Amino acid sequence: MSQIFATKTAARADETVEGLRAQLAAVREHVREREARVREREETIRLREARVRELEGEVAALRTGNEARWPEAELTPERVVERLEGWCTPRKAAWLARLVTETGARKIGEVGVYGGRSLLPMALAARGVEGAELWAVEPWSNEAAAASQTSEGNDFWWRNVEMARIRGGFLEAVRACGLSAMVRVVELTSDQARAAFVLDQGEGFDLLHIDGAHGEAQALADVRGWLALVRPGGVIVLDDIGWETVFKARDFLRARCEVIEEVREEGEGLVTYGAYRVMRGV
Ligand SMILES: C[S@@+](CC[C@H](N)C(=O)[O-])C[C@H]1O[C@@H](n2cnc3c(N)ncnc32)[C@H](O)[C@@H]1O
Repeated sequence: MSQIFATKTAARADETVEGLRAQLAAVREHVREREARVREREETIRLREARVRELEGEVAALRTGNEARWPEAELTPERVVERLEGWCTPRKAAWLARLVTETGARKIGEVGVYGGRSLLPMALAARGVEGAELWAVEPWSNEAAAASQTSEGNDFWWRNVEMARIRGGFLEAVRACGLSAMVRVVELTSDQARAAFVLDQGEGFDLLHIDGAHGEAQALADVRGWLALVRPGGVIVLDDIGWETVFKARDFLRARCEVIEEVREEGEGLVTYGAYRVMRGV
């Protein structure tokens, strides 16, 4: 009798344990779903915060009282770079502008904007294109810029450069060139911005210039990650393909895309960049 009782009790205990396990699995699933939803909302909040900062910048620029537009004659790719902070040479500016017009790019992006020296030439070239938009991905953060290390000198520069001033100069230039309606500032790191674009599931980029972190791991992560966000037939431009830390990123693109052109400018210093056409199914 007591044996039958013990067996029944054990069976009931097993059922209870099974029931609890099922409940636990359901709770875990629920928590996973909630966490995914929280992550999505965090991305949306980040994008909205970035937009608020962009508008604040525009307001601040208007408050300076300097509302004069730059003269139209200065608004050519080669000439505009002379007014901006950054590294893009006049030759590269003209080359980027040509890529915009030759490909008829409408959705254009840049990762690593700094003072806008390479973004503004592309934006000026796209001025006549209906519906053209320029996505400017740049955190303007010393911490983010110094996170991807290249050399002692570079790392020191990125830890100390006055990002707020560079950001202000860029926003002011966008306004002074009459490009505010086209340029969409995404004040996030490359990884954060990419996650937001993936969630957004919008159209792929026609042209994307990658000139953000130059450390080996982040440069590779950038081309790997952003490649999926460029439409087949679209073009990725990668800067500094002559830097050792960028070789892996360059070789990644060489292996998967059609090489349109790789340029080596030898002037005051060596300037290198390449354009790669994204093929279907990469
Ligand atoms: C070489 S500069 C860009 C220069 C600009 N394109 C030009 O031609 O003058 C690199 C920029 O990438 C930005 N950057 C660094 N790490 C980044 C990251 N993880 N995500 C996005 N941008 C980053 C830096 O803040 C810096 O402004």
